[in-house]
Amino acid sequence: MYNGILHAHSGLRWVVLITLIYSIVQAVQARKSGASFTSKKSSGTLAVASIHVQFLLGLAVVFQSPWFSLFQAEGMGNATARFYIIEHPSMMLIAVVLATIGNARAKKAATDDAAFKSRIIFFSISLLVILAAIPWPFRFVNAGWL
Ligand code: HEM
Repeated sequence: MYNGILHAHSGLRWVVLITLIYSIVQAVQARKSGASFTSKKSSGTLAVASIHVQFLLGLAVVFQSPWFSLFQAEGMGNATARFYIIEHPSMMLIAVVLATIGNARAKKAATDDAAFKSRIIFFSISLLVILAAIPWPFRFVNAGWL
């Protein structure tokens, strides 16, 4: 069970990253071409949905993780356990909130331009936070690419 969820959590990072990047690029292009904004079946909604699923998978994996037991035993003193149990989840929470706000503001925006702008700004910051908070294999020896 734990292994399955961890694999899903690890692999879904690519869906989150690709949908976020795609949605930002699309919003930049749409702004330039003066296209009209639609929130239905949009790439932005897909990006937010995948981040939300990823967040839930994170919640499902965190208490079963060996990092959680290590964190209970060693507390803040163990930098890797602290990363997985405190820093990674809290930074991802910030990223989820930013993407959700960006999407909600886009839907309520008075003009198409303001809607795309909201997506570009909030999604870009969210993307940066996610990139910084992912346990990449070049930062953590036990982490994987998939
Ligand atoms: C957009 C949100 C998130 C992304 C993109 C993300 C991404 C990842 C990735 C790529 C890994 C590495 C998996 C591996 O090495 O195979 C990971 C591990 C982990 N994540 Fe997340 N995560 C997110 C949110 C969360 C949240 C909200 C929590 C907790 C509430 C969480 C808890 C964990 C834990 C505990 C691990 C380590 C599991 C283990 O090795 O036992 N993640 N995450």
